[in-house]
Amino acid sequence: MGFSLARSFAQLARKAENNKASIAVSKEPLAEPPLEIHTLGNPALRQTGRHISKVNGNIRDLAKDMLRSMYSAKGIGLAAPQVGIEKQILVIDLDIENSSNPPLVIINPEIISSSASLEAYEEGCLSIPGVYLDVIRPSSIKVSFRDEMGRPKKMNADGLMARCIQHEIDHLNGVLFVDRVSDKENLKRVLKENGFNKKDVYSPPID
Ligand code: NI
Repeated sequence: MGFSLARSFAQLARKAENNKASIAVSKEPLAEPPLEIHTLGNPALRQTGRHISKVNGNIRDLAKDMLRSMYSAKGIGLAAPQVGIEKQILVIDLDIENSSNPPLVIINPEIISSSASLEAYEEGCLSIPGVYLDVIRPSSIKVSFRDEMGRPKKMNADGLMARCIQHEIDHLNGVLFVDRVSDKENLKRVLKENGFNKKDVYSPPID
């Protein structure tokens, strides 16, 4: 095989690599995840994400590091402010045990519409480990965003996906699920049991 042919194969392979959504990383937990996930009380969690104007390799590398850190913590969603990065990017994977299911990378999301029907559902957060409490949110949403290749997307979501997207978009606005918990006495108790302080919760909730 001639050199130029080998080179064009290499170019083709590279092109194919760039074309496919090459965001997948191993879902195995790492002993040393690349990013530290901040917890309630850290001011980073109250920062808002800035709009991402160019979705490039740096953003994809960030998404991969966010995924590696999320998988290592056994979470199903992670937003950039949780790792101290003020950008509008979040990652979601509702099937972390299944390596063939690709994760979702959501950049610059906007909720276009929300259902009138509301639902109470127990939420948790990698930034508030051990705390699981009911939050009331719209049961389904329509969201627009850019994917990891910068392509514009629209998606209808309900169930756990709708729940997760709303929770993560809150993070991009510096809002945590505990801000939205209505039973404040129970909240205070559960936070304390897990080593957190209610003074770090925003009240009344931001909308
Ligand atoms: Ni969270």
